[in-house]
Amino acid sequence: MKYQDEINRRKTFAIIAHPDAGKTTLTEKFLLFGGAIQVAGAVKSNKIKKGATSDFMEIERQRGISVATSVMTFEYKNTLVNLLDTPGHKDFAEDTYRTLTAVDSVILVIDAVNGVEEQTHRLMEVCRMRDTPVIVFVNKMDRDGKFPFDLMDEIEKDLNLPLHPLTWPINMGREFKGVYNLYEKSLNLYSPNQKGIEDNSIAIEDLADPVLDQRVGAKDAAQLREDVDLLDGVYGDLDVAAYLSGQVAPVFFGSAVNNFGIREMLDTFVRIAPNPKCRETTEREVCPGDAKFSGFIFKIHANLDPRHRDRIAFLRVCSGRLERNKNYKHVRLGKDLKFSNPYTFMARSKEIVDDAYPGDVVGLFDTGNFKIGDTLTEGENFMFTGMPSFSPEMFREVVNKDPMKTKQLEKGVAQLTDEGVAQLFTQHGGNRKIIGCVGELQFEVIQYRLLQEYGASVDFVPLAFYKACWITGDKKKIEEFVRFKQANIMEDKDGNLVYLAQSEWFLNTERQNNPDIEFHFTSDFKKA
Ligand code: G4P
Repeated sequence: MKYQDEINRRKTFAIIAHPDAGKTTLTEKFLLFGGAIQVAGAVKSNKIKKGATSDFMEIERQRGISVATSVMTFEYKNTLVNLLDTPGHKDFAEDTYRTLTAVDSVILVIDAVNGVEEQTHRLMEVCRMRDTPVIVFVNKMDRDGKFPFDLMDEIEKDLNLPLHPLTWPINMGREFKGVYNLYEKSLNLYSPNQKGIEDNSIAIEDLADPVLDQRVGAKDAAQLREDVDLLDGVYGDLDVAAYLSGQVAPVFFGSAVNNFGIREMLDTFVRIAPNPKCRETTEREVCPGDAKFSGFIFKIHANLDPRHRDRIAFLRVCSGRLERNKNYKHVRLGKDLKFSNPYTFMARSKEIVDDAYPGDVVGLFDTGNFKIGDTLTEGENFMFTGMPSFSPEMFREVVNKDPMKTKQLEKGVAQLTDEGVAQLFTQHGGNRKIIGCVGELQFEVIQYRLLQEYGASVDFVPLAFYKACWITGDKKKIEEFVRFKQANIMEDKDGNLVYLAQSEWFLNTERQNNPDIEFHFTSDFKKA
C-alpha cells in the first residue's frame, strides 16, 4: 500500500466520559464491530471502584489493565482505527489530558440520565484547547433519562458546544423504541441485549408512511414526526468542516450495553472523522505526509515487574515511517536511539511491529531515557509543542522518613514524575520538594511505588495551596516578584518559574499588583 494511502486509512481517537457513563462498554462494542474481539466481556473495566483507595492490589490490577488496553487497534470498513484508552478514575485525569494530545478526534459519552457531569466539563476544556473534533454519544437511552431536547440544550449550554443530531430517539426507558437516522432516513428498532453487528434498519423515506405507526405505535410515531419536523427546521446537512474544526458536534443516541445505536455512529465516524493531522513544533509545522519520521511521547508506563525499572513509553507517530532497528534522534538528549521491539496492541495481545505510520501509537521499551513530551526525529532538531502540564489540585511536601535512602528517594521522585504520575516542584533557590497531584489516589500510588520500587519511605505533608501558576513577563518585574514572594516560588521539572497561590483571592491580588506578569494555569504558555 502506498504511504499516503496508509495515512488516509488511519483514524486515531479516544472515548471520553465522566466515570460510569459507559466508556468501557462502548469501547468493547467498538472492538466487537471491528472484529478485534468476538465476545462481550473481553475488555475489563479500568476503573478503580469507589472505596478502593487503599487497595493496592486494585491499583496494580488497574496498571496491568491500562497497559494492555492503552491502544486498541481495529479495522472497520477499510479504516484502521486506533482507539486510545484513558483512565477511568478522576484522580488520573492528567493522564487523560495527555492522551488527548495524541488523538485527532474524540467521542464524548453522555449518560442520558445524568447529563453533563463534572468530569465532562474538564475533558471538554482540554479538547477545546486544541479544537479537537467531537462526536457525542448519548448513552443509556434504555433508562428514563432527560428529554432529548432538554439534554441537547444542557450539553450546548454547559459545554458551549453546538450540536447537530444525526439520529433521534423514539421514546426512552422501558418505552424506548429505537432511533431514527436523520440523514439516511431509516428506522432502527430497539431490542434489548442485541448481540450481533448486523444492520437491521428499515428505510423510511417519508415519515408519513403508515409503516412507522405499525412499527412504533401511533403515539410515538406522531411524536417522532413532530420532533423531526422541528429538527429539520433547525438543522440542515451536517457541516463537516465545522465538525472538523471543533465548532459543531454530531450527536447519536443509543444504549451501549445493548449494543444499540452504535453502528450509525461508527459508520459516520469512519466517514467524517479526521485522518492524522499536521502538528506544531518549535521549528515548523510537521505534517503526516512529510517524508522523515517524527513522533512524541505522551505517556510512560512503569513495567509491571518491580524487579526491573524498565518502562514502556507510548509514542504517537506524526510523520514519516517508524522502522524497527533504525536510529532516531532523541532531541532533548541529543542522542540516537534505536528500538528493536516497538509494539502495538490488538485488544489484549501485543505484537511487535516492523513499521508504524502517522496516527499509530507504538510502545517502546525505555530504560529511563524518556520524559512525557519528548520528541524523536530522523535527525532534525525540533520538539512538538502543545503538551501542557495543568495546575494540580493538591499539593504536598515530600518528607523523607529514611535519611539513608535519600538518593533512592530523589531518583524515585524524579522517575515517577518523568512518567507523569504527578508533578514535581522544587523550591526556587532551595531544596524543598512539593508534589502536585489531581487526586488523593495519586499520592497513595507514589508512596507505595517509592517504597516498592525504590525502597524509599516518605510522608506527605498537606499544603494549603490553591493553584500552581507558571509566570512569564518582564524580566525585571519577575525578578522582583520572585524576591518578594520567595516562599511561594518553585521551579517545575524544566526549570520554569511557578508561583503557588494560597487562594483565588491571593492570586487575583497578585494579578492586580503585577500587571506586567502573566499567570498561567498550564505550562503551555502560548495557548493559555
Ligand atoms: P465507564 O467506563 O464510563 O466508567 O462506564 P462502564 O462502561 O463501566 O459502564 C458503567 C455502568 O453503566 C455499567 O454498569 C454498565 O453496564 C452500565 N451501562 C453501560 N451502558 C449502558 C446502557 O446503555 N444502559 C444501561 N442501563 N446501563 C449501561 P455497572 O453496574 O457499573 O457494571 P456491570 O456490573 O454492569 O459491568
